[in-house]
Amino acid sequence: MTKKVFIETYGCQMNVYDSELVKSILTDNKFAITPIEDQADIVMLNTCSVRDNANRKIYNRVHEIKQKKADSLIGILGCMATNFKTDLLDKKGLKIDFIAGPDSYKTLPTLLSSLLKTGEKQYDVTLSEFETYSDISPSRKDGINAWIAIMRGCNNFCTFCVVPYTRGRERSRDPFNIVEEVKQLVKEGYKQVTLLGQNVNSYKSDDYDFTDLVKMVSDVEGIERIRYTSPHPKDYPEKLIKLMTERDNICNQIHMPLQAGNDRILHKMNRTYTKQEFLDLVKQIRSINPKMALSTDIILGFPTETEEEFQDTIDVVKQVEFDSAFIFKYSERPNTRAAMKFPDDVSEETKKDRIIRLNDIQNEISLKKNEALIGSTQEVLIEELKTKKSENEIQGRTDCNRIVILDKNDEKIGDKVFCKIIGASRNVLKGIVR
Ligand code: 5AD
Ligand code: SF4
Repeated sequence: MTKKVFIETYGCQMNVYDSELVKSILTDNKFAITPIEDQADIVMLNTCSVRDNANRKIYNRVHEIKQKKADSLIGILGCMATNFKTDLLDKKGLKIDFIAGPDSYKTLPTLLSSLLKTGEKQYDVTLSEFETYSDISPSRKDGINAWIAIMRGCNNFCTFCVVPYTRGRERSRDPFNIVEEVKQLVKEGYKQVTLLGQNVNSYKSDDYDFTDLVKMVSDVEGIERIRYTSPHPKDYPEKLIKLMTERDNICNQIHMPLQAGNDRILHKMNRTYTKQEFLDLVKQIRSINPKMALSTDIILGFPTETEEEFQDTIDVVKQVEFDSAFIFKYSERPNTRAAMKFPDDVSEETKKDRIIRLNDIQNEISLKKNEALIGSTQEVLIEELKTKKSENEIQGRTDCNRIVILDKNDEKIGDKVFCKIIGASRNVLKGIVR
């Protein structure tokens, strides 16, 4: 009888994408996917350990699943699998039946067959220098946006980050293969693609770099919006910013992780730029394209960060005025250079205090920037026919990735409408269709 699999996904967009790959691999190999946990014979937890101490949460989930249905088979996928390897299978009191790392998903059908046949625990956590899954078409959710992983892994080794260890070395897909996928997605009705990679602008395939790839994708007939995430400030050539400015279907939006604003901390993080170089890059981007929306990631309380050094981060945030920022407390990750070399010595209290202060500053900036748009006309791509608050409202995004809420008329998902902005909070705009 066909075995039914339930997949639960934690963490970043790459994990969501990987779960789509896994679903496709399994359904091609005589397994079925169920969205209902209670109906599953096999449960897979696709884990993330970038920021979270995922372990506890995952161990609790494993116990819960076994308690509900003792004969369920449970597997751990993703970062935790590569991080803890077979320790997960050996851990006393924890009933995990198989583990597979991010480069081993094609072996899942074989692992599962062996497990079902022999009852013996199975694992594959080998990291590959080549696997890009370019031959697998992910089983995507319907919508207007399709994610496409164009590269995997990371070679940067920021000292706080576990990704180079859990996801291995950088490797990029062939650009022509990506373009073919985009063409197919347009045929299927997707309006937008988001190019995805741990370090997306380090993309390199033979002579093709990231700018070349974005240009090729932008040339695909019918693709209305192109976004990408997550880039590193070190890979921002002028030609990329110019291309984004020239092409209407490449969104005017850049996510540029700052991480810290102090040179000593940036150096300890191995970020390879200084505060001034980051500020100069922002200046260059805005001089080429004043409309470019900028968002960022920031880590507070990196080992030894002083109040004075934190003030440098505040200074960059105030000078740049990001449209939005994701602000995190430093959290020590096993195996990273920071964990091995620098004791996590900034107290939890100080981290909390800094995060509150910086969030307050950023919230004010986000609100101010949104309020400045009141009265303007924006083009909105409709994404949802209801909002969290109301069935009578719809929502979409501007080119700069701002969420706009509109009253419901007869728009459909995927329509582009022009609207006048009549209200603003720090996260959303309110508009009326013109
Ligand atoms: N602690 C806190 N934040 C982290 N990030 C990555 N590793 C850590 C860590 N150890 C954040 C960075 C990165 C984002 C995806 O997660 O800001 O850009
Ligand atoms: Fe982690 Fe740095 Fe690589 Fe981003 S660039 S995935 S933060 S090591």
